[in-house]
Amino acid sequence: MNRALRKTVIAGNWKMNKTPSEAVELINAIKAELAGKKTDGCEIVACVPYVDLVPVIEAAKGSPIKVGAENVHFAASGAYTGEISAAMLCEIGTEYVIVGHSERRQYFGETDNTVSARLTAALAAGLKVILCVGETLEQRELGVTAETVSAQTKIALSGITAEQLKNVIIAYEPVWAIGTGKTATADQADEVCGIIRGVIASLYGESSADGITVQYGGSMNAKNAAELLGKPNVDGGLIGGASLKAPDFAAIIAAANA
Ligand code: 13P
Repeated sequence: MNRALRKTVIAGNWKMNKTPSEAVELINAIKAELAGKKTDGCEIVACVPYVDLVPVIEAAKGSPIKVGAENVHFAASGAYTGEISAAMLCEIGTEYVIVGHSERRQYFGETDNTVSARLTAALAAGLKVILCVGETLEQRELGVTAETVSAQTKIALSGITAEQLKNVIIAYEPVWAIGTGKTATADQADEVCGIIRGVIASLYGESSADGITVQYGGSMNAKNAAELLGKPNVDGGLIGGASLKAPDFAAIIAAANA
């Protein structure tokens, strides 16, 4: 394992928060927090609601902040009322997209197969994908965490080549740690991120496994970020609540640049 071969990525997932004007305010506040600080030790991404993308992309220009969407449809176009395609996201300058977030699996009928279809469509259009996997509390208590994240990862990546994999980040987000204030311990996060890396090694070989960024997400905050990011298999964070507060998000970025 060689950590120097991969990027640390600190990504915010704003979820269904911030109107367009509030979103611009938040990006400007994050930019102000980052001004004059070291940021080149990680990639910084803000994943925002669809209607915030255009103003946030504009506001983020000239800063180290890259912008992502929180979901994408799997079809290129067609009769899918209310949906947004990967080409639409690309045309406005979106660089990243989250797929398979547990909230989409839980509330919107997302399955491993639809996650795979979204990931395939996003990569084909040229987006970078943050693929979310993670076990529920029940699955952890039943002792099937490894099986769960392995199956989610394998199914999502079916048909994806090693070359395409270079545009995939995997976020390990234990469902029981999301928005609950219950963070996985740094050792738990490291263990499961390592299991996911092992799945990548089995599918694509060691050099792909060394190169892929595996983030942790779930109640990561300004206080616990340094310990989580200090683990060898944790290559960044996908941050919900704390990404909505500029000083907290900046503190996590500082931890990744220490
Ligand atoms: P919280 O950081 O609010 O727990 O959310 C994590 C998450 O779901 C990021 O995608």
